[in-house]
Amino acid sequence: MFISKFVVTTAIFLALNIHLCVIGNTSSSHPKGHLQPLGSHQPAEGHVEVLEVIPSPKQFYENYVKASKPVIFKGAAKMSPGFNLWSDDYLRSQYGDVIVRVDYGKKENRERSADPMPLAEFLDLYNSSDRYLVDTLPDQLWKEYNLLPCITCGGFTKGLQDAVLWFSSGGTKSFLHMDTVENINCMMSGTKEWFFVDIRDSHHVELDHKEGDYSSVDVDHVDMYAYPGLQHVPWWSAHLDTGDCMYVPYGWIHQVTSISRNIAVNIWWTPDLEFNDSDCQVAMETGPGVSLDDFQFTPAEQFRFMIIKLIENNGGQVDFKEVQKLLISEHTGTPLMDEEVFSKFDMDGDNYLTVSDLKIVPVKTFHEELEEFETGNISPIRRH
Ligand SMILES: *[C@@H]1O[C@H](CO)[C@@H](O)[C@H](O)[C@H]1NC(C)=O
Repeated sequence: MFISKFVVTTAIFLALNIHLCVIGNTSSSHPKGHLQPLGSHQPAEGHVEVLEVIPSPKQFYENYVKASKPVIFKGAAKMSPGFNLWSDDYLRSQYGDVIVRVDYGKKENRERSADPMPLAEFLDLYNSSDRYLVDTLPDQLWKEYNLLPCITCGGFTKGLQDAVLWFSSGGTKSFLHMDTVENINCMMSGTKEWFFVDIRDSHHVELDHKEGDYSSVDVDHVDMYAYPGLQHVPWWSAHLDTGDCMYVPYGWIHQVTSISRNIAVNIWWTPDLEFNDSDCQVAMETGPGVSLDDFQFTPAEQFRFMIIKLIENNGGQVDFKEVQKLLISEHTGTPLMDEEVFSKFDMDGDNYLTVSDLKIVPVKTFHEELEEFETGNISPIRRH
């Protein structure tokens, strides 16, 4: 009796041990998604909302911009003349001589530089190489690309920064990164897959390259040990079809993969602009066909935004010494403001820059004093 009870206990103990071993093995195996493509760690929270009708500027501002929520505008890119025009033959015959900036490599690498070349030369080689055209949309093509009606008034156009062309034969992969700008991206040809992290979950993602707000994680083989925040990060998926546009809110970390002959154009504008739709009546009467040529781009507004953020993060005011330390060029690492420029921004002359100073600095002053912020120069690195 006693012995048999002992045997049973031992058997249970052994069984438990084996069980514990199995558990032990499981927990020492790798985190889900380790060395797999981004997004393998858990299913997406869902797909970005898709709208069939473009909202009014007010609805767009309230429901998406202010709410920080991405949204897809189904088929909206088809309103731009370029959507039907931009075949290789057309681009070559009309704009073959235009000089464009062409990157090496479809997988993003910010160390490699780009080559300028005529568009015709790029068209000759893009199908049989991994070259990738990333550049401000050449001026000559601005008349063939429309601003979406939801941003043609209400304040959005006061902060237009850049229109950027992304052209390849597909298979491009960006870094996981975020932009400090608002963005609408339109697919003129091909499709794109997006991985998104809500700005409210962005603390999960280690952006180890602070200077460019990107993570150097290999998006094809995610190292879950080097980037442990990615083990459980909630994410959203988005599929952009040919002809679709998408709003990408400021601060949403994302990664983009392109598929097949790919032409996208995106518009960047400065965040935190004051919304006021008093000019929208006029804009509506002009109709939806408004090309980029009809708008003034003021990339320097981004500078106002960045200095305001910097002031807010430093207790509401900064003196010249702090500005020298905090405000440095992303490219050269040198201070952006000398004492003379500082005094031009210090509107009330109290030797401190405050938000109220910055709000009334004329945009002209940013352009004049901070040459880096001329149109085109604002996107010397790939940010998409
Ligand atoms: C490149 O390939 C696309 C199809 O993917 C085709 O439409 C285009 O005409 C090709 N361009 C050249 C220059 O061969």
